[in-house]
Amino acid sequence: MESAATGLVPFRAPYASPDETLAAALIAEAGRDPAAQARVDARARHLVEAIRARATGFGGVEDFLHAYSLSTKEGLALMVLAEALLRVPDAATADRLIEDKLAAGHWAGDVKSGAVLVSASAWTLGIAARVIHPGETPQGILDAIVRRIGRPAMRAATRQAMRLIGSHFVLGQTIEEALARAHADFRYSFDMLGEGARTAADATKYFEAYADAIVAIGASAGNAALPGRPGISVKLSALHPRYEAISRQRVLGELVPRVVELAQLAQTRDLQFTIDAEEADRLELSLEVIAAVLGDAALANWDGFGLAVQAYQKRALAVIDWIKDVAAATGRRLTVRLVKGAYWDSEIKRAQERGLPDYPMFTRKAMTDLCYMACVKKLLAARPTLFPQFATHNALTVASIIEDAGGAAGFEFQRLHGMGEALYETLLGELPEAVCRIYAPVGGHRDLLAYLVRRLLENGANSSFVSVAADPRVPIAQILRRPERRIADAGVARNRNIPLPRDLYMPERRNSVGVEFGERAGLEALLADIRAASPPAAVAPLIDGLARGGAEREVRSPIDGRPVGTVRDADATTAAAAMAAAAAGFASWQAAPCVERARLLERAAARLEADRALLLALLQNEGGKTLDDAVAEWREAIDYCLYYAAQARRALADQAMP
Ligand code: FAD
Ligand code: 2OP
Repeated sequence: MESAATGLVPFRAPYASPDETLAAALIAEAGRDPAAQARVDARARHLVEAIRARATGFGGVEDFLHAYSLSTKEGLALMVLAEALLRVPDAATADRLIEDKLAAGHWAGDVKSGAVLVSASAWTLGIAARVIHPGETPQGILDAIVRRIGRPAMRAATRQAMRLIGSHFVLGQTIEEALARAHADFRYSFDMLGEGARTAADATKYFEAYADAIVAIGASAGNAALPGRPGISVKLSALHPRYEAISRQRVLGELVPRVVELAQLAQTRDLQFTIDAEEADRLELSLEVIAAVLGDAALANWDGFGLAVQAYQKRALAVIDWIKDVAAATGRRLTVRLVKGAYWDSEIKRAQERGLPDYPMFTRKAMTDLCYMACVKKLLAARPTLFPQFATHNALTVASIIEDAGGAAGFEFQRLHGMGEALYETLLGELPEAVCRIYAPVGGHRDLLAYLVRRLLENGANSSFVSVAADPRVPIAQILRRPERRIADAGVARNRNIPLPRDLYMPERRNSVGVEFGERAGLEALLADIRAASPPAAVAPLIDGLARGGAEREVRSPIDGRPVGTVRDADATTAAAAMAAAAAGFASWQAAPCVERARLLERAAARLEADRALLLALLQNEGGKTLDDAVAEWREAIDYCLYYAAQARRALADQAMP
């Protein structure tokens, strides 16, 4: 169906194509001639050397994050504490949380985790980050510091450590503060912290923060023309508490006008206005919202609108094709910020949780890098209809872009505030035509958590460029290995350590098959099946497969009171027959060999799966469950059967062991 506003065909692409097929296509177009590759290597090496030169003895938050990367126990402990601390709403509880963590003996069994608290606190007190020396214990050091400065100061320092780490990534607590701190040499896209609104009040608060920020940015925007003007980055999840595929109609009706209003505010001031990319299951919905916003006549002839595209998503190239079509259909230039994607860890978990057939994103970083470069080429070729914005802190990616673009003109680079400083200072110093925009988060501590956790993951993951670039122990040649070589050398496009969601518990048992609501075609097919399975049900007590008697009564939906069927309640005779049948059944169940019981449970799981539409219809009609809850309950029943069948088989295997 076409969108009435833009005459566009909605975005459709396979949700999770096989990695192998995608790898073949990406590798085929990745090659460069040897001279070009030598230029890329030389530039990338030079940039890494510049990063290393700057990192030596710099002693900032990067050093701290590097010392406590996620591959260390301390780093993980820090992450947990930061997460917990930022989630705590009031100062008194936060104090109690730290008090609890610092309590004597708490770390006794976990010396390394203690070290991070000592170090983080010591670090904010101006003591060297690594304060643990051979022979010292964290508890001993902790006690010494507490004796010296007192427990309240220690508490304050620990909190301060978290704040400092957070503030490294935030330009200002208010938009005025951020504007005052912004540097004249850079373009900015301000991001008002806050996402995933849970309530209408939160969404309104975030909307107002964006609106106020746009007004303030506009007031100090200067006279440059687009795309050289400052702008704002907007997360749709901040603007609506039900920004999810299952609430599509509501989102289109309520969220689109809000985005149009913000976009108009930006248009009036001729600012850049970019929609951030969020979770994969929101992609189709976000593009639908964007198409509807762009169809608004008031926004015609404005070139400031843009969106982010994530290269770790298997649909990235298809998204760019769709954006090109939108630009053509609406006769305007759109800006496209190309990122690799910030939600990788949670996306993998979510796909596993949902029992999807495959992942919507790549599972090997080299595949993301390859896809990123294929997107770069597509975007460069789509100029001037699209204005590319390449957001990366990776020197190899930057050098490859410059090579493929034949220079640094005709697009802009982007970096996050608090990251990539050395890389871009070097680049901008050497290439006068290069431009870099800084994505600058603005806001208070309360709204920082989700953003901060993503930055800690990004800085701490050893697969991440920023985590290894400044580490002199990692050979530069290793960092600069081309993604196509990495894939070719390993011979696989998938990460061997990440099983498919359905194989998560293998070899013991398979995962139940779930549903991805974010894939509209699949969701619509499911809804049609449920509707077809929904005619009024007539339910009666069953004993040995035969319906029994009892008084019949009508059942109504708890949602809207509509009749959904009839049920015959068991009378005393039926109840007695049921008890007798159950006793006999139990005896035969107990007599059945373990392997037979396992087989029966597996058959039950298969039947539950096969009757998906009927069972979901019943759960919704009779229980008044949301589709999400109904699917969860249906899958839980299947998982139980498979789990206990697996336990039975395991017990058998254990018995068979000599
Ligand atoms: P690299 O180290 O080269 O790449 C790291 C990235 O590789 C990870 O973030 C992940 O995407 C990917 N990756 C890591 N491990 C794997 C794996 N096993 N399999 C597959 N892929 C893997 N992100 C968003 O999601 N939405 C946004 O709107 C957004 N806006 C941004 C704006 C700016 C200006 C910038 C600089 C970043 C933005 N980001 C956004 C964050 C961005 O996605 C990350 O900063 C980026 O992925 C880091 O890439 P890199 O090239 O700097 O680093
Ligand atoms: C994020 O919020 C920068 O949009 C990116 O992580």
